[in-house]
Amino acid sequence: MKVLTIQGSARKEGNTATVLGWVEEELSLMGHEVSSVRLVGKDIRGCLACGKCKESMDAVNCIQNDDASAILDQMVAADLVIFASPLYFWGIAGPLKSLIDRTYSFYVDYHKPGHASLLEGQRQALLVTGAGPWENNAEATFTAFERLQKPHRAMSAGNLYLGKCTTADKLGEDARTLASNFVSKIVG
Ligand SMILES: Cc1cc2nc3c(=O)[nH]c(=O)nc-3n(C[C@H](O)[C@H](O)[C@H](O)COP(=O)(O)O)c2cc1C
Repeated sequence: MKVLTIQGSARKEGNTATVLGWVEEELSLMGHEVSSVRLVGKDIRGCLACGKCKESMDAVNCIQNDDASAILDQMVAADLVIFASPLYFWGIAGPLKSLIDRTYSFYVDYHKPGHASLLEGQRQALLVTGAGPWENNAEATFTAFERLQKPHRAMSAGNLYLGKCTTADKLGEDARTLASNFVSKIVG
């Protein structure tokens, strides 16, 4: 399977990068073709809501020419996309949010009979690390993510929230097992 991981954390060796590294390693060992993108430092502008992307569906038709363009193309080519982020104020980190907003360019006619998407049938997964618990903290992020698959016409392959991640050495003892379980689930 062609797997694309998209990492939204600013910290190169932080909690999110550590857990995503385990996931990538395991996927590679299983024989999957893994490509990784780290968003921090890239020029990822927000969606302009100009609607030009809705005029045709032959390719990603976003009019903006920044670092998101190549990543959006990589997303279209992937069988499985894993989004990874720290939890920032009950949501995903800004660079990942900006990229996800740009995925507006992938589909047409949402809520209409002609609804079509360049990501049709794609598997998508979300991995988030946070300092706090799931309750009253992380749920809304995962609810929003589950909804994203509807306009994308993609499918949710699995989600992982690792709480109590204050510093990298404080990743819970069971973090590696949970990451491994996550891998088994998302490859189907
Ligand atoms: C700006 C900021 C906002 C944060 N907001 C939350 C939050 O709302 N909920 C939470 O559980 N942790 C929050 N945290 C903690 C981080 O999500 C957590 O430590 C995460 O594992 C850091 O990931 P990283 O090492 O990849 O940067 C916040 C941290 C920062 C810097």
